[in-house]
Order: sequence, then C-alpha cells, then structure tokens
Amino acid sequence: MCGIVGYVGPRKVVPVIVEGLRRLEYRGYDSAGIAVGSPESALLEVCRAPGKLQNLEAVLKDHPLDGTYGIGHTRWATHGRPTEENAHPHRDCTGRIVVVHNGIVENYLELKRELTALGHKFVTETDTEIIAHLIEQIQKDSEDAGAPLKLEGAVQRAVKLLTGAFALGVLSAAEPDKIVAARSGPPVVVGVGEGESFIASDVPGILHYTRNMVFLADGDMAILTRQGVTFTDFDGNPVKRELTRIHWDPIQAEKGGYKHFMLKEIWEQPRAIRDTTLGRISLDSGKVFLGEMDLGDEELARAASINIAACGTSWHAALAGKYMIERLARLPVDVDYASEYRYRNPIPDPAALGLLITQSGETADTLAAQREMKAMGSKTIAICNVVGAMVAREAHGVIYTHAGPEIGVASTKAFSSQLTALFLLALKLGQLRGHLDKAQSVALMEELIKVPAKIEEILRSASDQCEKLAVNFSNARDFLYLGRGVHFPIALEGALKLKEISYIHAEGYPAGEMKHGPNALIDETLPVVVLVTRDETDPASKLRYEKTLSNIQEVTARSGRVIAIATEGDSTIGSLVEQTIFIPPAPELLAPILEVVPLQLLAYYIAVRRGADVDQPRNLAKSVTVE
Ligand code: M6R
Repeated sequence: MCGIVGYVGPRKVVPVIVEGLRRLEYRGYDSAGIAVGSPESALLEVCRAPGKLQNLEAVLKDHPLDGTYGIGHTRWATHGRPTEENAHPHRDCTGRIVVVHNGIVENYLELKRELTALGHKFVTETDTEIIAHLIEQIQKDSEDAGAPLKLEGAVQRAVKLLTGAFALGVLSAAEPDKIVAARSGPPVVVGVGEGESFIASDVPGILHYTRNMVFLADGDMAILTRQGVTFTDFDGNPVKRELTRIHWDPIQAEKGGYKHFMLKEIWEQPRAIRDTTLGRISLDSGKVFLGEMDLGDEELARAASINIAACGTSWHAALAGKYMIERLARLPVDVDYASEYRYRNPIPDPAALGLLITQSGETADTLAAQREMKAMGSKTIAICNVVGAMVAREAHGVIYTHAGPEIGVASTKAFSSQLTALFLLALKLGQLRGHLDKAQSVALMEELIKVPAKIEEILRSASDQCEKLAVNFSNARDFLYLGRGVHFPIALEGALKLKEISYIHAEGYPAGEMKHGPNALIDETLPVVVLVTRDETDPASKLRYEKTLSNIQEVTARSGRVIAIATEGDSTIGSLVEQTIFIPPAPELLAPILEVVPLQLLAYYIAVRRGADVDQPRNLAKSVTVE
C-alpha cells in the first residue's frame, strides 16, 4: 500500500527513484510522483501523474528533472481520488518543503482547519498535504521565536501532532542533500551505501543498490545525507539501530522469464518449502528446531491454548494450522480475523499463546491483534516471511517462512510456506506435549520432505490441464469451492485466489454445509471445485473422503459442474465428475499444501484468459498497512 523511494547521493536521482518505485509496484497504487532538488535550486521540482508509472515517465520525458536528492511515491488512494493533484509528493505554501506519506492522518481535518486559519492554502483533497504545511508552520514559528529548527527538528514536532499511521519522507530546499524519514506504523527501510543513502517502503525498492539495510521501528526517525544516516526517536534522542545484511538475490524479485510474478511464485513453491524446512528437522533425533525463539520448550509445552490472528490468505493458513495443531498436539486453537480480534473483547488468558501469521509482517490489523494479545499478558509467536518486519520484532519468537520476496499481490508461495511452518510448529508442540513419539515424528518428517517433489510433479502435470480448463470456465459468473476438515481452508483459499485476480465471484464452503443453503445456487452454469483427496492409511481421511463423495453427488444431481481435486489412483471419482485434477497421495495434514497448487494455477489461467492484471489486481495492495 503506497510505495516510497528516496535517494541522496552521486547517482542520477530520477532513474534510481523511478526504478525503485517500479520494484514496489506490487504494493498496489493508482498514481505516482517524484520531487527532486539540488543545492543550486531554491525550489524542489515536482512531477506527478495519475495511473501507472509509465504515465509519470511520459511526463518526465517531456519535462526532465535532475538533481542530487529526491523522493518518489506511488499512491494507493484513501483520501481523495487518484488524480494528479492528489498524487504525492505534496508541497507547503512556499514549494520549498515536500512530503510523501504512507498511512492515514486521522486528525487531518482538525489540523487543516487550524492551518487554514493561519493562512495556509491547500490545493488537494489529501490528508498528507497538511503535513507539509505543518512543518512549514513549525519552522516559521521557531524562526519567529529566534530559535530556528532544522528540518529534522520540525518533523519531530510535527509527527507528535499527528494521530493515525505514517511512514514519511520529507525534503526541504533550504537543507539540500538531506532526507528526513519517520515511522509510526507503515514500514520504512533505510539503505546505507558508500557516499549515498536510500529509503524505501520495502527491500526490493533499493535492493539493486545496497544490501545493507536498517528497518525503522515505530517511533524512529532517520536523517539521511550523503555522509550517512543518523537515527533518533521522535524527541531527537539518538537511537542505535542494527544493520541487517539482506541476502535475497535481487533476481528473485524479478520475473525471470515468467509472464507474471504470480506464475513465477507458484513455480517457486518447491524451493520455498524446502527452504522453510531446511535445518529445522532432524531425521536422526526426530526433533524439530524452531530457531529464533525467546520462548523455551517448557514454556511452549505449558501453553494452555493458542490464539491465532491473521488476515486474508494468512487467515486461511491459520485455519489449516488449527487442524494440524489440534490433531498432532491436542492443544486447543482459536482462529480470528485480525481485524475482528480487538473488537470482540477477547477474554484475557496469559496462559494462551498468541500466534500471528503474516507474509509481510506489516499488516496493520495483525500488528494491532499482536499488541492486544501482549497487553492481555500472552507471549506471541510470529510466522512471517519478511526478515526484520515489525511483527517479528514485537514477537517473543518467530518462525520465518523462507519463501523469498513475494511480489504478486495474490499470495501463493507464502501460503504454502506458512502451511509448512505450521506443520513444523504442530510437530514440535506434539512432541513437547507427549503426543508424538520419535518414530511418529520421523515418519511425518519423511512425508514433509517429499512434499516439494510432489509439487514439482503437480506443476508438470496440472499446468496444461488448468490452462485448458480455463478455456471452458473463464466465462463463469460464480464459482463454489468445497472441502471438509483441513481441506475446507484450502477451498476458501482457492475461492480467494480466483476472486482477487479474475474478479469472478467465488465462495468457499465446508462441503457438509451445502444442504443448509448454498445448494440453492446450483445449476448447470455453476462450476464447483471439490477437494476430494484421500489418505488410504488414515481412517479419518477415508471417512471424510466418503462424505465428500456424497456431497459431490448432491451437486451433480442438480446439474452442477464438478472439478475434483483427487488423489492419483482414485478410480471412483472420474465417473462422478466432469473434470478431475489428480495430485500425488499424501498424509491428511500435508495434502493441503499439494491441493492448493492446482487451485492457484486454475485461478491464474482463468485471470489471464480474462485479460486481468494478475500481479496487481484492481483495488488491492500487497501490504495492507492501514486498518
Ligand atoms: O502480509 P499478510 O500475510 O499479513 O497479508 C494478509 C492479506 O492481506 C493477504 O494474504 C491477502 O489476502 C492476499 N492478497 C491474498 O492473496
């Protein structure tokens, strides 16, 4: 949601910023802009355009900008339409101060009234514009009082007057070759180079130029110059922040020959799952090692229950995790939408462990749920993909999913890696609580190790099939996805993938619920995707399979068009349904990691056929950093 890239140093500023913004496009945006300054210029030059970055580039071609420092922004509209005027950067009355902002200033109307009364003129509908005027006013007041404040001093005072969430980048023509950044909520990462400094909303925006990064914490400010970066709190007190060396290969954040990031990321899943498992299990001892934990095994074993909070796809992983943990560790698990958690007045239980699942680690609702859990006395663990993200810093333990950068807005490899991490956590808890012995643990680990190769097999066998199915089904108006037990969250995930990238209405349902209402929807136009895999060795799985077969018959009896996801070797299913996608056999709790792959492919090929913007679906942002 909104992307910020800033640069001060000897390189050509505009290409550095525009290229950085391009690498942040996945965050979602609907207008873009840039401001550039140089020591020779009394003003900051601003260029903005509605729509995609190429529109900004076209304007820049006609009106080239040059300078030694600058800041750029891609805006995801909240206050005011996505027009040129509302695009960032925003200026003060003099045009000598500019601001870019990610987040929401909740008290902007009140501040705008006060500043208007002091003579400030506003030219946009945005909340952000008030920040530039506020800084201008603070500097003016400090000059009038005979104690002029530098830019960072004025920003310190300004941020204390703001309520809401913000990541800010501020420039002043009066103090060239300097960028002031501040964070309260949305992420800011600072890149530290030789004779140059960078800021961005996310690592890929500047990874081509430096691997040495500092993640600002809430309440941090950074003052960037060519000479280096200093970090302070909002009172101007110096703070020490650790440099993180980013090992991601910048190429990982590129399409690498694939038509879309989403397709590349679907194909990266075997690697992502291997990396998430790597070094965390021992087939010799049967033990699970979950690295970055401040929680000892005894404390984990003592947990009376687990509360999981997450959003979107990560919430679906959480639901599947509930089945895994309850089955393997016999520990009760509650799953909440993070956006609902705080508002349902949860009952405090310090013995309950909080678990936050988030790809970005920056989702505002998930962070708010984490704070609520901690305030109620719970320890929290995060399952997160972005190293150093806020959720990880605030947690007592973190299990990183080593999926690598996920650029497509539709989450794919992060989801399968989250399922993998949850399976590892369930194994660990099962062992600690005495429900899994060494032989059982090793058997499950051996199955987990086979998952990446099975996904490779699915990618090879099901890709063409899904592309062909897309020809028949891309005109459908609605889709239903059905599953039972641990497969129900995968039905939800399949439906979410389809709706977010193809804009076809889709719903996931527990198969057994059909007769309580949704059966009324079924007719010959409705595709129904049913997860009907089975694990021959597991009586519970066999029972679930048989019940799902009955549900399929209820659908076909009403002329619904069933696409089944079934296990290789199933000779019954073919005669009951219109289409079957076979996947390799797997234990009940691991099958979801396989099942989701054809659902991702189906959604992808349908969206491509419909000509949709697969990587950046309309109205969506990759990291949702506002509540
Ligand atoms: O970064 P997070 O995992 O916290 O993000 C949560 C959701 O916003 C995210 O999963 C969203 O639903 C995806 N677009 C789904 O593909």
